[in-house]
Amino acid sequence: MTWLITGGAGYIGAHVARAMADAGERVVVVDDVTTGVPDRLPADVPLVRGSALDADLVRRVCAGHEVTGVVHLAAHKQVGQSVEQPERYYRDNVGGLATLLETVAAAGARRFVFSSSAAVYGNPDTGLITESTPCAPVNPYGETKLAGEWLVRAAGQAHGMATTCLRYFNVAGAAEPALADTGVFNVIPMVFDRLTRGEAPRIFGDDYPTPDGTCIRDYVHVADLAEAHLAAARRLSRPDVSGDLTVNIGTGRGASVRELVDVIADVTGIGTPALVEPRRPGDAPRAVGATALAEKELGWSATRSVRDMIVSAWEGWCLRHPEASAT
Ligand SMILES: NC(=O)c1ccc[n+]([C@@H]2O[C@H](COP(=O)([O-])OP(=O)(O)OC[C@H]3O[C@@H](n4cnc5c(N)ncnc54)[C@H](O)[C@@H]3O)[C@@H](O)[C@H]2O)c1
Repeated sequence: MTWLITGGAGYIGAHVARAMADAGERVVVVDDVTTGVPDRLPADVPLVRGSALDADLVRRVCAGHEVTGVVHLAAHKQVGQSVEQPERYYRDNVGGLATLLETVAAAGARRFVFSSSAAVYGNPDTGLITESTPCAPVNPYGETKLAGEWLVRAAGQAHGMATTCLRYFNVAGAAEPALADTGVFNVIPMVFDRLTRGEAPRIFGDDYPTPDGTCIRDYVHVADLAEAHLAAARRLSRPDVSGDLTVNIGTGRGASVRELVDVIADVTGIGTPALVEPRRPGDAPRAVGATALAEKELGWSATRSVRDMIVSAWEGWCLRHPEASAT
C-alpha cells in the first residue's frame, strides 16, 4: 500500500514525506511545484510533477503506485491573498478537493488525511481552543478549510473512506536547514526578515489582556507536525478504525509575541529593540489548542520547544540569506 502525498514538495509536505518514508511507509508525491521545492524530497521518494486537481494525472498515479491512502496538503494558504482572490481559493481549495476525493475514492483509496488549520476557529474568545469550540472563520482561507473538512467528512461517509482532519496551529521550525519555510508569511520569518534588513521587529499591540500585553499563539514544530501525520496515517491503517476524526495539532502551550522576539534576539544575537505598533484588526489575544484529543486518538504530542523552532528556522534562514549570519 502506498500513500499519495499532495503538496509533498512544500514546507510541511516535505517534512511529512520524509517522516513517513523514514518510518517505512511507501509514499508518492504529487506536486505542481508552484511554491514547492523538489530538492526538499529525498531521492527515494518519487515526485510526480503536476496538479493534484488533475483527475487524469491522479488516476494514473493511483493505478501506477497502488495508492490506498492520501495525505492532502496541496492548497493555497495565504490569508491576505484569500481576501483578494476568494474565487481562486474556493475553486482550488474546495472545488479541487472535491475532484481529488472523487478520483481517489474511485481509484480505491480508503484513507484520507486532510491539512486543515486553526483558521477554522476564527478568533474565539476562549483560553484553550478544543475541537468542539465553535468554528467561525474570519477570512476566505479559513472558510475553505472548514468547507474542506465538511467535504472530506461527507465523501468519507459516501465512499466508506476513513478520514482525519488535522487542524494545525502555528507551524514553525525545520527538521534541517534545507527544509525550512521559504515564505515570509509567519511571524518568525517576518522578524528574521526585518532583522536581516537592519530594521526593528514589529509587535502589533502590547495592551492585550495577556501577561505581557502581546498576543499569545500556539507554535508547533514542523517535525512534530510531521510525526502527527505519520500517527494519523498509521491510525487510519488499523482495521478497527473507520469514520472521521477532526483533531487539533498544537502544543497546548502559548508563547507571546514578546517572548518570541526575545528568544529570536537571543538565538540570532541581534538585539534590535522591537517597535510597538497599534493592534491589527482581527487579532485574537490568545489562540492555543487543546491537545487531549490528539494524545488520546493519535497517541501523539509535541516534544519540541519554541527555542528549538527558532534555532532551526534561523539555520534555514541563514542558509538562504548568508548576509543574515554576518548581521
Ligand atoms: N504553514 C502553516 O503554518 C500552515 C498552518 C495551517 C495549515 N497549513 C496547511 O498546510 C498545507 C501545506 O502548507 P505549507 O505551509 O507546507 O505550504 P507550501 O506552499 O510550502 O506547500 C504547498 C505545496 O503544495 C503545492 N501545490 C499547491 N497547489 C497544488 C496543486 N494544485 N497540485 C499539486 N501541488 C500543489 C505547492 O507547490 C507546495 O509544494 C496547506 O494545505 C496549508 O493550508 C499550513
